[in-house]
Amino acid sequence: MSDILIIGSGAAGLTAALNLAERFRVTVLAKGALNEGSTAWAQGGIAAVLEPGDTFDSHIDDTMIAGAGLNDRAIVEFVVERAPAAIERLRALGVPFAEEDGALHLTREGGHSHRRIVHVADATGWAVQEALQRAAEAHPNITLVPDQVAIDLATGRHEERYSGAGRVWGVYALDRRTGKVAVHTARATILATGGAGRTYLFSTAPRGATGDGIAMAWRAGARVSNMEFMQFHPTCLYNLEVKNFLITEAVRGEGGQLKNPNTGHRFMPDLDPRAELAPRDVVARAIDAEIKRYGLDYVHLDISHQPADFVRAHFPNIHDKLLGLGIDMTTQPIPVVPAQHYTCGGIVVDRDGRTDLPGLYAAGECTQSGLHGANRLASNSLLECFVFGEAAAAHIAGCWDELPAPPPIRAWDDSRVTDSDEEVVIKQNWTEIRRFMWNYVGIVRTTKRLQRAASRIRLMTDEVTDYYGHFRVTPDLIELRNLLQTADLIVRSALHRKESRGLHYTLDYPELLPEAVDTVLVP
Ligand code: FAD
Ligand code: SIN
Repeated sequence: MSDILIIGSGAAGLTAALNLAERFRVTVLAKGALNEGSTAWAQGGIAAVLEPGDTFDSHIDDTMIAGAGLNDRAIVEFVVERAPAAIERLRALGVPFAEEDGALHLTREGGHSHRRIVHVADATGWAVQEALQRAAEAHPNITLVPDQVAIDLATGRHEERYSGAGRVWGVYALDRRTGKVAVHTARATILATGGAGRTYLFSTAPRGATGDGIAMAWRAGARVSNMEFMQFHPTCLYNLEVKNFLITEAVRGEGGQLKNPNTGHRFMPDLDPRAELAPRDVVARAIDAEIKRYGLDYVHLDISHQPADFVRAHFPNIHDKLLGLGIDMTTQPIPVVPAQHYTCGGIVVDRDGRTDLPGLYAAGECTQSGLHGANRLASNSLLECFVFGEAAAAHIAGCWDELPAPPPIRAWDDSRVTDSDEEVVIKQNWTEIRRFMWNYVGIVRTTKRLQRAASRIRLMTDEVTDYYGHFRVTPDLIELRNLLQTADLIVRSALHRKESRGLHYTLDYPELLPEAVDTVLVP
């Protein structure tokens, strides 16, 4: 048994692990390879006030404006003020941030009123993941265990001497390699399981972004908040074979323009004075409207007016990837569409990363900390992982003596020994959820479409619950159950909100209400 159990080996999980490991034994579980989360896929960078003339107030204001006023200002301040130190720690771990004339090179992204994004060319996340993983692998107190699919939290209901209390003692997890389910216990558990992007048919997120941590916390009794605010990134590559390749917002930050592919007209300046650098919700809705108005498949993102060397130097990975697909971005426009990108809502946490359940903490994209409000500002997400990974670790260390040791926990009930020959149930439901979420719960919503989605979720929940109750668990079944749970939380939250704010835009309630109120679902 470890002292502390962390589910997730991305930016949030590994930051927490590294902050705990000097004093405690830490085990980190990941459901596949250690680098399969969104962290390794991040392109643009990390936002921090580092330039003379930029201020914390400006970063805070930009975050609140993007978040349509729903952000918790105290949390925004807490995170923004810790950003420069977080960047320094990453540099100390060896993250090779781009430099120019001896200083960090800062790029710009939508919604930011200054250049304040540190980056490693256009593959920042890969460099961050590598550095964190290298440090964690080298630490004698950290045990990294890939291929463990957490199924559910172990709580008082699972104690051998049933207490029914809400304290979390760890998780049950399926070992992909042996097919066996084991219980992992600890005095404190941190969920760092990332987002739920794969609830949607088109998403920039990796395959494993199925909302597992959010669904597990909800089932165990924790509140979940603001799930209606699913962020759509304006510029995902439109390609019939490669469906989820992001074209970083930094392309627009460095001058990229959005154009109608038929007429060549640059449409963003007609709609918003910030043009291509308006916050993501504004740009994604504008592209969606342009596509619908003109019956297009995509719009163009054009940076070919910049010098070819400049484009290649700033976006080497995107340039090479596109060249492989027959697009030379130094001379040609890139076909793009909006796609789901980020889960703004999640498990309710406080400033210390504490959830409602004693013994359970959470950090990163699976949480709703108050930072993002109704729409996350670009490059604030990795930052949130570093700040809250550290905050959760500090709180655990601070109250360590009060944390009880876990009691004996019942072994997993393996009476469901039957293997199913009905894999089709999983495949069919998996695709169906993602399709109706895309069609009915997308960028522009209506109550009727949300209700259609809700009634499909009810039907599928019966089918999947029945299936889950009868057959041996598999990674796909675990994820399907969580996708459905998360879809339900998104639709319920969206139906609850009777206004349009940030990422939640509904034709039935197009106005913004005077008071900004979180949607909080209570199990
Ligand atoms: P992740 O990095 O997603 O890690 C989740 C971890 O949880 C993984 O290890 C996974 O295996 C594990 N896990 C999940 N479920 C289970 C389970 N059931 N059992 C065991 N383990 C489990 N943000 C920025 O700030 N700047 C950017 O430039 C940027 N670019 C992005 C580009 C792309 C293409 C995408 C998809 C996102 C981008 N984001 C960016 C968002 C950012 O990358 C993520 O929000 C952030 O990396 C999330 O980190 P995390 O640690 O919370 O989760
Ligand atoms: C991007 O590079 O456009 C993604 C940045 C982010 O999601 O914050």
